[in-house]
Amino acid sequence: GFYKMAFMRKSKFRHVFGKPLKKDDGYDNIRVTKNSWDSPFCSVNPKYIAIITESAGGGSFLVLPIKQTGRVEMNQPVVDGHKGPVLDIAFCPHNDDVIASCSEDCTVKVWQIPEGGLTRNLTEPVVELVSHIKRACIVTWHPSAQNILLSAGADSKICIWNVGTGELYVEINLPDLIYSASFSYNGNRFVCTCKDKILRVIDSRTGKVIKETKEPCHQGSKPAQALYLKHDKVFTTGFSRMSERQYALWDANTLEQMSLDEIDQANGVLMPVYDGDVEMIYLIGKGDSIIRYYEITDEAPYVHYLSLYQSRDPTRGFGVMCKRGLNINNCEIMRIYKLLNTGTVEVIPFTVPRKSELFQDDIYPDTASDQPAISGEDWFRGVDADPVLVSLKDMFASEMKEPAKVVIKSNILDKKVPATPSRRSEEVASTPQAKTAHSVVRPASEAAPAASGAGAELPPGVNIKDILEDVKQLKKTVKDQDKKIRQYEERLSALESSNPEDADK
Ligand SMILES: *[C@@H]1O[C@H](CO)[C@@H](O)[C@H](O)[C@H]1NC(C)=O
Repeated sequence: GFYKMAFMRKSKFRHVFGKPLKKDDGYDNIRVTKNSWDSPFCSVNPKYIAIITESAGGGSFLVLPIKQTGRVEMNQPVVDGHKGPVLDIAFCPHNDDVIASCSEDCTVKVWQIPEGGLTRNLTEPVVELVSHIKRACIVTWHPSAQNILLSAGADSKICIWNVGTGELYVEINLPDLIYSASFSYNGNRFVCTCKDKILRVIDSRTGKVIKETKEPCHQGSKPAQALYLKHDKVFTTGFSRMSERQYALWDANTLEQMSLDEIDQANGVLMPVYDGDVEMIYLIGKGDSIIRYYEITDEAPYVHYLSLYQSRDPTRGFGVMCKRGLNINNCEIMRIYKLLNTGTVEVIPFTVPRKSELFQDDIYPDTASDQPAISGEDWFRGVDADPVLVSLKDMFASEMKEPAKVVIKSNILDKKVPATPSRRSEEVASTPQAKTAHSVVRPASEAAPAASGAGAELPPGVNIKDILEDVKQLKKTVKDQDKKIRQYEERLSALESSNPEDADK
């Protein structure tokens, strides 16, 4: 091998660490499916956590309100509408109440979770998609077009659906069993891995193979997984001829290999998770207890090892929280919900160790919102659009419920030059339906432009000591208010849970 550059390379994410929450803040008593298909078996969003469960005969999955931590009751209602085991589930990126599932019963179904969560078994989907003639194994949503869903089946077929109309837009027949499929940033293409070991980049609208590798992307016979990254790159995991676990990076346009490295000798398929905002990859090994994480950059060898998280219990499955659901004030950049064989879900925030009262814009670039950029129909007609982005700064401010004074002061203190709005964020601003991820009203004072460019200058008559004193006072106020809000929220949710009929249609 050659020297890894990791020592010399500077990175904001070098010291990112994972630390599990207390057991009470996780979930427990869940009969996670024992199916051997290489799926995460779990999907998470800011409102719900969904987990595929073991059920005699049919196929079902839990959908718990994310705040309903602790022990799950034996009679907890489930989504129970498949005639065979459920193999994959995925929440819609543009509607937190909508989830897709696919099953050994060959169908793909899309479900609407009633406001507040399930109060009885949900057996009727909003739409059922029937085309696969063998088990349906994978579902994944288009990142920017509304209602576009990809499904893959053991019939070696990929279907692109408009779930709004129930139309099957595209049918793509591949030569072998499909192990993974992943959309590009704007979803005009996807990459997939198959049992034939060939890596393919395919046009999502025509189904045409744009590029495929001549050689196996990984030589081993165990399943390879692929992710389409930003900036025309593809990341894969797989096994060498000697059954060592590997990862590789590819140029998405030429499918030339840019990087390849061996990891270890363990058996489990490495499931990659991508955070495109900061170009980090987390590798979660099915059946092992380690989560490794890496950063992708433009310097060779392009994939740079950062660190690992290890806990005692092996991983049966996992879900990943989107940025909209993270604790921005704590510099949390990832949260993994790890399913254990014991029926416990361990919640693991990954955090950049920083102490600051200011919004950390360098680790939180604008992120995908819950708004679709275009309709499914427009997309299928040929329009491409990047995901609609939002600033997470609103979420940071949202924790300061008495913002007027705070905002003015923090603008004075903020020495950072406001970032020039990217082309994309201008588009967001001009998109009529664009809204912030959380319905928090932004204080008018914040919208006023901060001293643009030369932000370091203090207005006359203001000195640092006074500001620091003010900040101290305000922090105390905020803390008190936070406590009060939490008490109100607890009372509210106690009231809601004693009166659940509203959600029951
Ligand atoms: C809900 O579905 C589960 C799983 O199929 C089943 O065991 C349970 O009896 C169902 N509950 C009701 C009330 O029908």
